[in-house]
Amino acid sequence: MNEILAGGVQLAYHDVGAGEPIVFLHAFPLNQTMWNEQVAALSRNYRVITFDWRGFGASDAGETEVTMNVFADDLAALLDELQIESATICGLSMGGYAAFAFYRKYAHRVKALILADTRASADTEEGKKGRYEMAALARKSGAAALVEPMTPKLLGVTSLQNKPTLVERVQQMIRAAQSEGVARALLAMAQRDDATDLLAHINCPTLIIVGSEDKLTPPSDAEKMSQSIPRARLEVIATAGHLSNLEQSETFNRLVADFLQAS
Ligand code: MLT
Repeated sequence: MNEILAGGVQLAYHDVGAGEPIVFLHAFPLNQTMWNEQVAALSRNYRVITFDWRGFGASDAGETEVTMNVFADDLAALLDELQIESATICGLSMGGYAAFAFYRKYAHRVKALILADTRASADTEEGKKGRYEMAALARKSGAAALVEPMTPKLLGVTSLQNKPTLVERVQQMIRAAQSEGVARALLAMAQRDDATDLLAHINCPTLIIVGSEDKLTPPSDAEKMSQSIPRARLEVIATAGHLSNLEQSETFNRLVADFLQAS
């Protein structure tokens, strides 16, 4: 595990393999280990970078509130530190929200984009209210209080029924999350910009992936994005929920590898 100072905060990251760089942005409320299967498979041919958002995993939370723009600036600082001018950026869910913020500010640093199980639209008023309640819960009772409400949202019915080891791994990641980092990220997601207007201006090769059983950001959201991003291709992964990279990792890896080879 390596660390860099970005915006006054210590961020934990991994940088494995050599070749064209690809950076993976993790989901909420998880950490960079959700990409272990992608690192193992793709680092044979590519330089694969994962890191913990501030307030998650082994990264410091810092003193201030966060926004998707803060996350985007942290990613830019990490790329600077690693002397990477541009990279393929792959964000899943909250990682996708941050990828939109990064593209808005640093489009020239995005060689290609992978948007997995995410959406361009902002939260509804009801969605924001739910985030504020969950942030209060995390601050009061700790991140473990999110295990019960989040598990059925993150995993598809097939995984919930057939993959107890994966269910436990995801729940362990949630339990281990830093409660203040979780609360701040919830507020940042609630306040994030709507990225719908950005879609038509994304002019790099883009792969959109969604699990067929994703309830949080369903295939209909992925279809909308694929219709608006000029160079997008949509892939739906069967029997995967919101965490498609974990639930069907081999299919996910094959789609990413094929895309990297073509882009
Ligand atoms: C995530 O998976 O990153 C979050 O659950 C997404 C969300 O809550 O909108």
